[in-house]
Amino acid sequence: MTDSTDAKLRTLQEKQQAVLTGDPAAIEKQHAKGKLTARERLEHLLDPGSFVEFDKFSVHRCHHFGMGDKKVMGDGVITGWGKIDGRPVYVFSQDFTVFGGSLGEVFAEKICKIMDLAVQNGAPVIGINDSGGARIQEGVVSLAGYADIFYRNVRASGVVPQISVVMGPCAGGAVYSPALTDFTFMVEGTSHMFITGPDVVKAVTGEEISFEELGGAKTHTHNSGVAHLSYPDEISCLEHVRYLMSFLPSNNLDAVPRVPVADLPDTNIDLNSFIPDKATKPYDMKQILSTVLDEGEFFEIQPSFAGNLITGFGRLNGQSVGIVANQPLCLAGVLDIDASVKGGRFVRFCDAFNIPLITFVDVPGFLPGRDQEFGGIIRHGAKLLYAYAEATVPKFTVITRKAYGGAYDVMCSKHLNADMNFAWPTAEIAVMGSDGAVQIIFRKQIQSAEDPKAEAARLTAEYQETFANPYIAAQRGYVDDVILPSETRLRLIQALEMNAGKREAGPKRKHGNIPL
Ligand code: HXC
Repeated sequence: MTDSTDAKLRTLQEKQQAVLTGDPAAIEKQHAKGKLTARERLEHLLDPGSFVEFDKFSVHRCHHFGMGDKKVMGDGVITGWGKIDGRPVYVFSQDFTVFGGSLGEVFAEKICKIMDLAVQNGAPVIGINDSGGARIQEGVVSLAGYADIFYRNVRASGVVPQISVVMGPCAGGAVYSPALTDFTFMVEGTSHMFITGPDVVKAVTGEEISFEELGGAKTHTHNSGVAHLSYPDEISCLEHVRYLMSFLPSNNLDAVPRVPVADLPDTNIDLNSFIPDKATKPYDMKQILSTVLDEGEFFEIQPSFAGNLITGFGRLNGQSVGIVANQPLCLAGVLDIDASVKGGRFVRFCDAFNIPLITFVDVPGFLPGRDQEFGGIIRHGAKLLYAYAEATVPKFTVITRKAYGGAYDVMCSKHLNADMNFAWPTAEIAVMGSDGAVQIIFRKQIQSAEDPKAEAARLTAEYQETFANPYIAAQRGYVDDVILPSETRLRLIQALEMNAGKREAGPKRKHGNIPL
C-alpha cells in the first residue's frame, strides 16, 4: 500500500466519522428538547446493525443568501435501507440539526432515490419527518423537490406500504408527504404538523393559537384524524412502527404475513351470554375482538378518532386480518362523517395489500341531524360504502346485534359481495329500530286506539317478533349462517381457509371515481 493510498483511506475514514459525529452543539440542543437525533431514531427503528446508508457525502448546490459557505455532508437527511424483523425496508430520517431539516434539491433527490428503490424492490418506505418544510434559500427547486416526492408517494400508494413518523415541528411540504402515506405516527409534546405555524396564522388571520393546539399530537389524533397514532416518547413510537410492520406484507404482490399459530385467545368471556337483553344497552365490542383474535391481540388504528367505529389489525390462525367494527360504547356505534372516512380509508388499505377484512356489525344507522347533513354525511358515508364494494380481498361479516337501515347495507353486507356473512341469534336486521318503525307505519292506528300506549307496545312487540331477528335474512341467503357466538372464531378461521385462493377481477376501466 502506498502512502498516498493510505492517506486516501484515512481521508475516507475521517469523512465517514464526520458524517456520523454531526454538530455536537446542535445535537445537544436536539436532545435538550427531548428528541433523538436522526441517526439515533434509525437505530431504534431498524434491526441492530442492519442499516446501510446511501449518499452520505451529498451536499446542496445553492449559492444564495450565503449558503455557498454552508455545506453539510448528507445535506440534512439520512437515507438508506435496513431491516425490520429480518424484512427489508427503505428509510429516510430528516435531521433538524442541519438547516432545520428543511428540504432542498439534493435532500429531495436523496429521498426520491430510496422511494424508487423501494418500489422497484417491493419493500415499504418509512419516513421520519423533522423539518421546517421547503428550504427557503433554495426557492423553487425546493418546491420542485417536494412535488417529486409527492408524485412518488402517489405512484407508490397501494404498491408498497408507506409509513410516516412525525418527530418535530413539521410544516408546509413536510406534512403533505405524510398526508399521502398510509399511516402517520406522532410523539406527544414534540411533534407538530401544520400547513404553517402560529406566527403566520396570527399575521394572516389575527388568530392566536399555540403550537400544541394548532398541530400537536392530540389535535391530529383526536380532532383532525390526520395522524393515526401517538405515543408519549420517541422510542415507544418507533417500537410501535415496528409492531405495525409485523401485520403488513412488504408489497401488494406479497402474501399477508403469517406467524406460527398462536395460543388461543383468553376465553374467559362467554360470548353466548355476552349481548345484553336490552337492545339499547351498550357493551364493549373490543371484548368480542379479544375473544376471537389470536391471543386476544388487537392493534387498534386511530383509537382516539371516531371511536364509534373501531379499526385495526389482529391475527386469526397466525394470519394478519383487518378488523372494522361498530363500537356500541361510543355514540351507540352509529356511523357519522368521521367514522365513514376512517373506515373507508382503512378498508382500502387492507384491500390494496391483500389483508382479509372482518367486519363486526352492531349499528343503529347513520347519525341524523343538521351538522351531519351540512358536513356532507351523504358524500362521506358513500366513501365507506364504495370502499367495501370495490374491495376484492376476502370479506367476512359478523352481525352481533343491530344492523339497521342503510348502515346494514354499508357494513359489508352480502350485497356488496362479501364472502361469508354470519349473524348471531341476537341479530336484528331491519330498516330501523322497532320504536321508530311502529311510530311511522302505525301512527294513525296508535293515535286512534283506546289506550295508545298499550297499542304501541303491542305493535312494537309484533314488529320485533317479525323483523328483529336474523332469520328472514338467512332465508334469503343474505346471511350465510346463524351461528352461536362461541363458534365465531372457528367459523372465521374456516372462512379464511375457504377463501385463501380468492381472485376477483374488476371491470376494465382506468379507475373508479370514489366520492372524495
Ligand atoms: C430554511 C429553515 C427553515 C426553512 C427552519 N429553518 N425552517 N431554513 N428553510 N423552511 C432553520 C432556521 O433558520 C434555523 O436556522 C433552524 O432551521 C432551526 O429553526 P428555528 O426556527 O430556530 O427552530 P424552532 O424555533 O424549533 O422552529 C421550527 C419551525 C420554524 C416551526 C419549523 O423554523 C418555522 O416556522 N420554519 C418555517 C416553516 C414554514 O412556514 N415552512 C413552510 C415552507 S413552504 P439556524 O441557522 O438559526 O439554526 C413549503 C411549501 C411546500 O414547505 C409545498 C407544499 C404543497
